[in-house]
Amino acid sequence: MAMDTQICNGIHWVGYVDWTVRDFHGYNTNRGATYNSYLIEDEQCALIDTVKGPYAQHLLANVQGHVDLSRIKYVVCNHGEPDHSSGFPAVMKVLPHATILVSAKGQQTLNAYYDTDGWNMQVVKTGDSVSLGNRTLHFLETPMVHWPDSMMTYVPQEKLLFSMDAFGQHYSSSYRFDDENPITEIMAEARTYYANIVTPYGGRVVKTMEAAAQLEIEVIAPSHGVIWRKHIPEILKAYRNWALCKSRRKLLVIYDSMWGSTAQMAQAICEGAMGANVEAKLIAIRQSDLTNIATEMLDAAAVAFGSSTLNQEMLPPAAAALTYLKGLRFTNRAAFSFGSFGWGKGGPEAVGEMLKACKWELTRECLKAKYKPNQVALDECRAAGAELATKAIEIADAAGYEPLLID
Ligand code: FEO
Repeated sequence: MAMDTQICNGIHWVGYVDWTVRDFHGYNTNRGATYNSYLIEDEQCALIDTVKGPYAQHLLANVQGHVDLSRIKYVVCNHGEPDHSSGFPAVMKVLPHATILVSAKGQQTLNAYYDTDGWNMQVVKTGDSVSLGNRTLHFLETPMVHWPDSMMTYVPQEKLLFSMDAFGQHYSSSYRFDDENPITEIMAEARTYYANIVTPYGGRVVKTMEAAAQLEIEVIAPSHGVIWRKHIPEILKAYRNWALCKSRRKLLVIYDSMWGSTAQMAQAICEGAMGANVEAKLIAIRQSDLTNIATEMLDAAAVAFGSSTLNQEMLPPAAAALTYLKGLRFTNRAAFSFGSFGWGKGGPEAVGEMLKACKWELTRECLKAKYKPNQVALDECRAAGAELATKAIEIADAAGYEPLLID
C-alpha cells in the first residue's frame, strides 16, 4: 500500500503502517505501529530515517512517488535501533551516492549492525547544520532518549522537529495527524510508549525538553504514530509529568495467586484503599500483561504487590512483573508486599526484597497469611490498604502532577 501525506509544502510522510504487529520486543502493541520516515524535497532532497527492514521497499516506492531516487542527497539517521535503521541496507543499495547524516554514536551503531562498507557517513553533532537549498537541517543530540545515539533534526524554515522516538506512540491509522485521530486514544498510546520505552531516562528527557524549548515548534514529527500539530501543549505537559515521574492520587494492588488466598488479600487491600480519596486499581498479573502494568505504574503513587509462595519463592509471573518494573526505574513510589504461604515461607518476602531493589519506600512489614487469610488477616489487609492510600495522597500532592485529558 503506497501512502502519502504531505506534512507541509514539499515534506512528505513516506513511512510504513504496520497494522498487524502486536509484539514489539515484548511490548504489546494492541493498536499496531508505524515506522515513520519523511522526505524533504528541496534543491538537495533528504530522507529522515528509514523503516524496519522488511518494509524498505514500501518506503522506496513512497519516495519514488515524489522524486527520482537519484535526487536523494542525504539520509538522516536519527537513531540506530533496528525498527528505524534495518531499512538502511536496502536503501543504501539503491542510493549509493547518498550521504548518511548521523551522530558519532549512531555511526558506531550502524557499523555494529550492518555491513557499512561503501556507505558515505558524515558525523553531525548538536549545533551542526546542513543546507538543502531552501531549508536547513539542524541537529540536536539527545543521548539516552532513549539510546546513546539518539538525536533529533529540526527544520527552522518549517518550525518542524523530527523528534525520533520521543513523543511517539505505537498506533496504526490511515490518518497521520493528531487532530485526525481520537485524542484520548493517541494520548493513551503515548503514555504506554513513554512508560514502556522511555521511563528510565526521565532526567535526559528533561534536558532534551529544555533544549527543545529554545526552538520555535509548530509541528513535532516522531518516528512512531501520529504527527503532533494541534495538541503539542498537551503532549508536552504529559512529558513534563512523566519525565519527572510525577504521580497522581492513584494506588495499585498487583498480585499473582496460586489458590486464591493472595487474591483475597489483594481484594481486601483494595477495599481498604477505596475508602480513601484515591483511584485504586486491582491488577491480577495473569489477566493483565507487562505492558499494561508498566503503563499503570507511570502515574501511580503507591503499590501493594503480592504473591503466593512457590518453592520458597514468589510465583514466576510476579517475578517477571517486578523484574520489568525494576528495570524501568519508576521513582518516588511507596509500596509494601503481601502474600500467602503454606509449610514453606518465601513468596511475599521475596517480593519485599524486589520492592526494596526498586528503591521504593516500604511503608510496612510484609503482610502474610498462612494457607488462607482469616477474618483478622483480612481486616489487617484493609487497614494496610487504607494506610497506603494515605501515603499515596501525600506523595501525589507533593508531586505537582499537571492533569491530562486522559486522566
Ligand atoms: Fe523506535 Fe528506539 O526505536
